[in-house]
Amino acid sequence: MLPPYSELGSGPPVVLIHAFPLSRSMWAETAAAVARAGFRVITPDHRGFGENSSLADIHTMDEMASDVRDLLDHLSIPAATVGGLSMGGYVTMALYRLDPRRFTSLMLFDTTAAADTEEKRNGRFELIGRIESEGVGAVVEAFLPKLIGVSTMNSQPELAGRIEQWIRNADPNGIIAALRGMADRADSTTLLERVSVPTLLIFGEEDEITGRDAALGLTDAIPHAACTTIVGSGHLSNLERPDPFNSAVIDHLESISK
Ligand code: MLT
Repeated sequence: MLPPYSELGSGPPVVLIHAFPLSRSMWAETAAAVARAGFRVITPDHRGFGENSSLADIHTMDEMASDVRDLLDHLSIPAATVGGLSMGGYVTMALYRLDPRRFTSLMLFDTTAAADTEEKRNGRFELIGRIESEGVGAVVEAFLPKLIGVSTMNSQPELAGRIEQWIRNADPNGIIAALRGMADRADSTTLLERVSVPTLLIFGEEDEITGRDAALGLTDAIPHAACTTIVGSGHLSNLERPDPFNSAVIDHLESISK
């Protein structure tokens, strides 16, 4: 299924896949910086988010990955650098499993290859129950304090307000379907040693959702990986500290384009 998307710039193609419970809007600033550096940046909206109005009971990471592949086909792009943040990273890993030939390089931001623990899965179903009775306010309460690092909360309260508004504008049914999809996702740990393309990993130093163990696990397991830590950032590192985040991405893209 072809997802709605934005496209900016020209040059080697780069696909950026958004996090939960946001939309491609989260990539606007990064996409502009990467396009200015000489790349063609494509940002899709997952099912149930942003302008993507397709809805089912569950949206799996595999379905979202296959939507990204359809988009590459639609744009006649045989291979691209594909990167995703958090849930976007789960989708990126699912796409690698589905069709590794579509990758010239891989970028994983604030994400993990591990499937949900029992505790995490239970937490998702609990949150679904709360959304059904209280609406998306429950997601703001449960997620916003974890999405942004303490430093950013203190120094950029307006960013927290912007992210809260994005969550409040999201379709509760899209959020529920993605929560079910994340709870259901496969473990990608065994995929990592098979990744044969250059890989950039970026982690926010204060990321409470992903945590340091996941960052170290990906760095150790992926053969050609370089890791950048964004100091003073939480989970949404491209929004919290755009300058170092965008520089790391552009440096990676330039290094593989030589
Ligand atoms: C995200 O930022 O995409 C989510 O925090 C991922 C998750 O809940 O596992």
